[in-house]
Amino acid sequence: VIEQRITELLGQMTLAEKAGQLIQYSGRELTGPASARKTDLLNSIRQGQVGSMLNVKGVQDTRAIQAEALKARLRIPLLFGLDVIHGYQTVFPVPLAEAASWDMAAIRESAHVAAREAAAAGIHWTFAPMVDVGRDPRWGRVMEGAGEDTYLGAQIARVRVLGFQGEKLGGTDAVMACAKHFAAYGATIAGRDYNAVDLSPQQLWEVYLPPFKAAVDAGAATFMNSFNTLNGVPATASRYLQRDILKGQWQYPGFVVSDWGSIREMVSWGYAHNISEAAQKAIAAGNDMDMENDAYFDALPKLVPEGKVDVKLIDDAVRRILRKKFELGLFDDPYKFSDARREKKVFRDPQHRVAARDVARKSMVLLKNERSVLPLTGQGKIALIGPLAKSKRDLAGGWTVIADTAQIVSAFDGIRQRAGKNAQLLYAKGCEAASDSRAGFAQAVETAKAADVIVLCVGETWDLSGEAKSRADISLPGVQQELFQALKATGKPIVAVLFAGRPLIFNRIADQADAILYAWFPGSEGGRALADVLFGDYNPSGKLPSTFPRLMGQIPISYQQYSTGRPVVDPKNIRYRSAYLDAPNTPRYAFGHGLSYTTFRYSDLKISQPRMTPAETVQVSFTLTNTGSRAGEEVVQLYLHDKVASVVRPLKELKDFQKLSLRPGESRTVSFTISRDKLAFYNHDLQWVAEPGAFRLLLGSASDDIRLEADLELTE
Ligand code: IFM
Repeated sequence: VIEQRITELLGQMTLAEKAGQLIQYSGRELTGPASARKTDLLNSIRQGQVGSMLNVKGVQDTRAIQAEALKARLRIPLLFGLDVIHGYQTVFPVPLAEAASWDMAAIRESAHVAAREAAAAGIHWTFAPMVDVGRDPRWGRVMEGAGEDTYLGAQIARVRVLGFQGEKLGGTDAVMACAKHFAAYGATIAGRDYNAVDLSPQQLWEVYLPPFKAAVDAGAATFMNSFNTLNGVPATASRYLQRDILKGQWQYPGFVVSDWGSIREMVSWGYAHNISEAAQKAIAAGNDMDMENDAYFDALPKLVPEGKVDVKLIDDAVRRILRKKFELGLFDDPYKFSDARREKKVFRDPQHRVAARDVARKSMVLLKNERSVLPLTGQGKIALIGPLAKSKRDLAGGWTVIADTAQIVSAFDGIRQRAGKNAQLLYAKGCEAASDSRAGFAQAVETAKAADVIVLCVGETWDLSGEAKSRADISLPGVQQELFQALKATGKPIVAVLFAGRPLIFNRIADQADAILYAWFPGSEGGRALADVLFGDYNPSGKLPSTFPRLMGQIPISYQQYSTGRPVVDPKNIRYRSAYLDAPNTPRYAFGHGLSYTTFRYSDLKISQPRMTPAETVQVSFTLTNTGSRAGEEVVQLYLHDKVASVVRPLKELKDFQKLSLRPGESRTVSFTISRDKLAFYNHDLQWVAEPGAFRLLLGSASDDIRLEADLELTE
């Protein structure tokens, strides 16, 4: 029925109205450079020359602008899109943080709550999830993704899409998802945003595309292409990505929106002579909607009669966009999402804060805990020191659409509420996060001397990671490590809490702090979630979704190292070996690392059969025991190594994981199924093959903490 209604509508549309459906403009806020915009946007909307708006939010505004669109001849409703990246009114941890939870139910719930609030505020469409694999922490956008691993990233892509959209489009507590940025944006050269990407086809298919495929399989309604070139072709102009892979091989029924200005940027890349040629290349390549380019509306109606663009391409793009408007139910009720009463009610739902606190505490990663400094006893004097201790804004992180800082719980407030009367809380700022003044050190040291334990809250400010926030030096900014050093001299135990949107380098703290908790940007309930972890009300379970380097020179760095012809066998003898003269190859903290207040034993490995044919499956199982005195969660990780293959394979690839909760002393049998698919890879001809031969299965608590190993042979 929908297809028939679209056909009827298309039959009535002029070429200009068709081009209009492909246009998206920004409202008052800008999330990209200001463009030479149409001066009379409202008039364009009334004429049916705009198909979608971004950055318009709230029932009042979306209603008012929708009313203008309905004055147009064909009364086609607008789509309202927005970057709802980690929460709407309730701010959730940044996506990289949530990935550290390895908790698919919690991540899905986070996306669901974000969608529920956004949909209640008149939004139909979020520009999320970002499913770019990111292996270079200089790139500020690692904050918005799920980290460095393809398998983990694909699982998270799936649950985020389902969380935003629900099982089927059209519900008023859901929004359309947008898998972005297609593709390989995370491989931007030197970690610099908006830069070129040069990538082998194997890397593209094996590392960067699977999370996008997972998003397609989960039903992602839309895709966004990306700012980068891929092997010389701007992604927005890439037929290979959009027509051959996405709409061809993957049979994708949704539509593709450009990134902000990425059509016109073909001119700056030196890939098109002018905007008209850029528009021609974009539509030919399969880019359906034009976000803030001022390209399609003027160019397409001229390019058709000139014979440069086939109108069928435009019809197809319009059809894809109209289909979503129908599926959302906007033709039946254009104001379906703009209901003032629902907006108020949904915003007041206390369950949203509960969900935000839940995922925030699950996201925090305990990197170090010597002499069991943590959990805090809740007695005595606690000196809370550092530039981020009282900050609310920073705990929200970037990409917060309506960050009402008043509603963020700071570290100070969260700890004060939890500590209650039993502990005395002292405070000193010490320094600013990114300044070189040491003026506050003396007071901080005096405060520390009066305390039993120091909790030092340091990190990046919220505006140091995200889009256009690449850093050439990812060290902890300013004099924060010097502040740490001054406090260390007091001899008091120090718990360092780091807030950030990316892996940072903080070697002095890593070497000398007694305990380190990586809290990322934890969102609205950050302070309470932090207190839950520090005082042991919640036993930390987060595991790093990204490798933390020791030095800038190790970047890009990932646990997925390849075998080399000259591996380091003995770290004391690196002559003519694949090594650095001035640093080990190993990272500061490995992918998958994260401690708990309890301990886990891995034992009794069993494999159902040591050999399998491609048609068979093998069960690998073992016993996991909580050997400590507290209940806790463990993320059990299964890695695999293909020993000899027609293409050199990584030494370890994550193939599966499970997060389990065990009482003290409890044992559980954990089992994984190995199928042909887990043994397969893209060969030189880009065929997905599993080659007969020997494989090693590695089970552990982190990529550098493998506890059990077994051999498996794949036979013909
Ligand atoms: O969704 C974003 C995209 O990720 C980067 N450029 C701007 C878009 C819209 O705000």
